[in-house]
Amino acid sequence: MKQVIISGASAGIGAATAAGFLAAGWAVTNVSRRPCPVAGANSIACDFSDPQAVQRACGELEAIARAAAPLLLIHNASLLRNDRCGEVPDADFREILQINLAAPNALNSALLPLMKPGSAVIYVGSTLAEKAVPNAYSYVTTKHATIGMMRATCQDLAGRDIHTACVCPGFTDTEMLRTHIGTDPETEQAVASMSAFGRLITPEEIAETIIWAALHPVVNGAVLHANLGQLER
Ligand SMILES: NC(=O)c1ccc[n+]([C@@H]2O[C@H](COP(=O)([O-])OP(=O)(O)OC[C@H]3O[C@@H](n4cnc5c(N)ncnc54)[C@H](OP(=O)(O)O)[C@@H]3O)[C@@H](O)[C@H]2O)c1
Repeated sequence: MKQVIISGASAGIGAATAAGFLAAGWAVTNVSRRPCPVAGANSIACDFSDPQAVQRACGELEAIARAAAPLLLIHNASLLRNDRCGEVPDADFREILQINLAAPNALNSALLPLMKPGSAVIYVGSTLAEKAVPNAYSYVTTKHATIGMMRATCQDLAGRDIHTACVCPGFTDTEMLRTHIGTDPETEQAVASMSAFGRLITPEEIAETIIWAALHPVVNGAVLHANLGQLER
């Protein structure tokens, strides 16, 4: 069965990606704390901040992966906190490392050995995977590492006919963005004006990019910028 496993498909970009794959005839399994709201998607409840919960989810996912051909693994879930270098308690930093890096690594360890030719591993990065802004220390750090993880994945999967890529969204209208900018129209306009198109990206636009990347092995190892042309000031 053509199977997609998406982390964080309970909302935003992940949910839009689940909807796109389901419409194209793929079976979809979401892994996150809340279920995927899209009809037809399977969900496994898991809090990525809990390593034991991640291991339990991996057990369930392995059974799905064994029956899958091909399997597309989309590493999309992540945590964004506003924090600053020199001010992040060790426990908080370890938590974001666990959610943004260790959980994807656990899924890779469980599922990559089971993945057949034609499969793919797609990472969701960020504009902040390649640049830094103030007040996003732990997120910037882990998103830079996401690109490193994707590049290492590419090297280590050579010869298996499994490809990888990292899609890096710009400002996309999701819960994550709204948590940080709120709903004030002036603030929204200020953020929107940071793209060359003067608007926020829709989750569906990023989903289409993820789906395209997952189905085109020619982009193996690539960082795909999906930000409408972010303006640098
Ligand atoms: N929106 C943007 O402007 C933007 C820009 C650049 C990059 N991105 C990236 O795009 C990806 C998707 O973000 P989004 O904007 O779609 O955000 P979102 O709507 O807030 O969705 C985030 C997803 O991550 C999951 N998640 C968060 N913490 C989790 C945890 N502890 N355990 C399991 N799952 C967890 C959430 O599921 P539960 O809450 O149900 O657990 C949710 O499904 C992220 O990697 C983000 O960094 C977004």
